[in-house]
Amino acid sequence: MRLDRFLANSGYGTRKEVKKFIKQKRISVNDSFDVKDNQIIDPINDVICFDGDKIDYQEFYYFLLNKPKGYLSATEDYYEQTVLDLLPEYRHIDLFPVGRLDKDTTGLLLITNDGTLAHDLISPKKHVDKVYIATLDKELDLKIKDEFEHGIILDDELTLPASLEKIEDNIAKVTIHQGKYHQIKRMFEYFGYKVVELDRIKFSFLTYDGLEIGEYRELSKEEIERLKSLKSR
Ligand code: URA
Repeated sequence: MRLDRFLANSGYGTRKEVKKFIKQKRISVNDSFDVKDNQIIDPINDVICFDGDKIDYQEFYYFLLNKPKGYLSATEDYYEQTVLDLLPEYRHIDLFPVGRLDKDTTGLLLITNDGTLAHDLISPKKHVDKVYIATLDKELDLKIKDEFEHGIILDDELTLPASLEKIEDNIAKVTIHQGKYHQIKRMFEYFGYKVVELDRIKFSFLTYDGLEIGEYRELSKEEIERLKSLKSR
């Protein structure tokens, strides 16, 4: 990894700012101040110091966000706020959301810079359970339950089995294992329902319990290991 990127990723400033620190000889690599911004360093084995203090490197970050309405699940947007605007302290890291929640959907969204894990988690092969509470425009008739289970045609493909439970007259709990565009809304729309509120309450074993809307927390080591060990089916 380039030294300037390492420093920027570690929160020492923008690429431009860290280049200045290198010029000012405030950065050492293995006790040498004869360093260049484009120098390739090994973040694990090289000892990199700022003003003599060793920089501890964290390569990957994992966050669980309770997403509010009004934010795009994207890394940047010219006009709209994105979910990354809710983690301003981590702007220096190349974070991205794991999959998408619609702008008007609330609830659990993972955010990381670990592309391998993110890719694995959104693969339908992993069969990760995603549980949503959907508020509908009218009373749910459970005769559509079997069709959710057997799958319906969306984008010329049969959806994977989904489970449907009635919580209140017009409130349903739905579990799916894939993440097609507007999947839950389109599944209900197929049967003439409009989803007026959608909240993701669970992603695999994770819930947003304890987080107010708009709050986030880092995942624990155990949670990260558990996510990594989810088996494909
Ligand atoms: N399904 C939807 O329709 N929207 C979401 O945000 C997530 C799942």
